[in-house]
Amino acid sequence: MAVDLAEISKIDVELGELPETMAAWVIRKETEGEPNDAFKLEEIETPEPGAFEVVVRVMAAGVNFNNVWAALGQPVSVFGYGDHPEFGHHIGGSDASGVVWKVGDGVTRWKPGDEVVIHCNQASYEDVEVHGLDPMAAPSQRIWGYETTWGSFAQFTKVQAQQLLPKPKNLSWVDASSYGLTYFTAYRMLMTRGNIQPGHNVLIWGAAGGLGVFAVQLCKAAGANAIGIVSSAEKGELVKQLGAVDYIDRNEFKGMMRTGNETPDEEKERFKVTRAFAKRVKEILGEPPDIVFEHVGQATFPTSVFTVKPFGKVIICGATSGYNLDFDVRYLWMKQKDILGSHFANAYECMKANQLMAEGKIRPVLWKTMGFEGVPEAHQMLHENRHLGKIAIMVGATDEQEGQEDSGPGAIRAEVGA
Ligand SMILES: NC(=O)c1ccc[n+]([C@@H]2O[C@H](COP(=O)([O-])OP(=O)(O)OC[C@H]3O[C@@H](n4cnc5c(N)ncnc54)[C@H](OP(=O)(O)O)[C@@H]3O)[C@@H](O)[C@H]2O)c1
Repeated sequence: MAVDLAEISKIDVELGELPETMAAWVIRKETEGEPNDAFKLEEIETPEPGAFEVVVRVMAAGVNFNNVWAALGQPVSVFGYGDHPEFGHHIGGSDASGVVWKVGDGVTRWKPGDEVVIHCNQASYEDVEVHGLDPMAAPSQRIWGYETTWGSFAQFTKVQAQQLLPKPKNLSWVDASSYGLTYFTAYRMLMTRGNIQPGHNVLIWGAAGGLGVFAVQLCKAAGANAIGIVSSAEKGELVKQLGAVDYIDRNEFKGMMRTGNETPDEEKERFKVTRAFAKRVKEILGEPPDIVFEHVGQATFPTSVFTVKPFGKVIICGATSGYNLDFDVRYLWMKQKDILGSHFANAYECMKANQLMAEGKIRPVLWKTMGFEGVPEAHQMLHENRHLGKIAIMVGATDEQEGQEDSGPGAIRAEVGA
């Protein structure tokens, strides 16, 4: 049955009841490829909530890089993971705001009608790690809407009840859908893994990007001094507006980027530029950074290890430019530096971070809002690096302001970013 895009925002069932089918953007094994072609609009069965699960009507969905990977089927196909083998489809989307529509057995904290934001970590409550170590350590741990199907690019999404957070009343549906995955990741990196303190100096790569805009704001809120690395003066101005001490345009230090194919002479040249970069960072901050906030990977990692101060920490959660990292390890051991991996966040961290959002201490940064039809194009833009910031998709919501109940500044509308 063809899906009528004009009807996406309309639901003709009562709270507590689900329609038999719903509209969803679906990737299947045979459609993997360029995002523009990988996502197909389908009328698909609406999932029923199982025990401790909730079905949420999606009002708005946030776009993240992970579903570019899901579309491409690279570096691995999502169809080998989570519940994909069971259902044979992938409905992506790891960020959403919406209304609890139906709850499964055992759910007591939430009821139909509650307005929520969804965090994207899932883990089985039967795994012991969930109860004593960290759900991120559980063998069952999965990122909803990437390693699982039933994500947010659909009229309804199925999640674990523990994924729900109260929607900040000062934010619209669109604003509230735009921050979870990147903000909560940045929160864990800096607050938990980094243990940032007032007066710390922090170097943030991609500071106007999805993770970066929150890393900068968190540093400011914690009394730490952030320096943002960006690729244009416009992005630099945004980063300063968000609270960074200053920024560096990485184009001035192009030669420090590691490609992996350098000759020994080219390596020497690269190292010279890296030294000049570290010197500039120190001039701006007064000291080398206590923490480097890493997610670029291969291109920047040697510079990160070199630039961080002795006994400092490089905290890494991603590798946009390549995941095979190499660097001169002497600067690590002789200066006793730490490299820390970090991945998303646990529910407690998400809750604490969400409170800062509700208090207006941290704000979403949004570049573009698109209608439901925009899902493939939004991911294609990310894939081709044509985006200039965070993109949100309206699903149940019909305008950008809908859902904002309390006054407040809402999201920062960025002309630039990412
Ligand atoms: N593990 C997790 O839980 C987790 C969570 C969120 C994201 N991630 C990963 O983290 C990465 C960044 O995510 P994001 O949402 O922040 O992406 P994003 O919005 O695209 O921002 C990343 C920024 O990094 C900078 N960058 C890209 N390539 C670079 C290069 N070669 N050298 C230096 N800077 C470069 C760019 O900023 P400039 O051009 O301005 O420098 C870009 O805007 C992605 O790989 C993502 O998959 C992981």
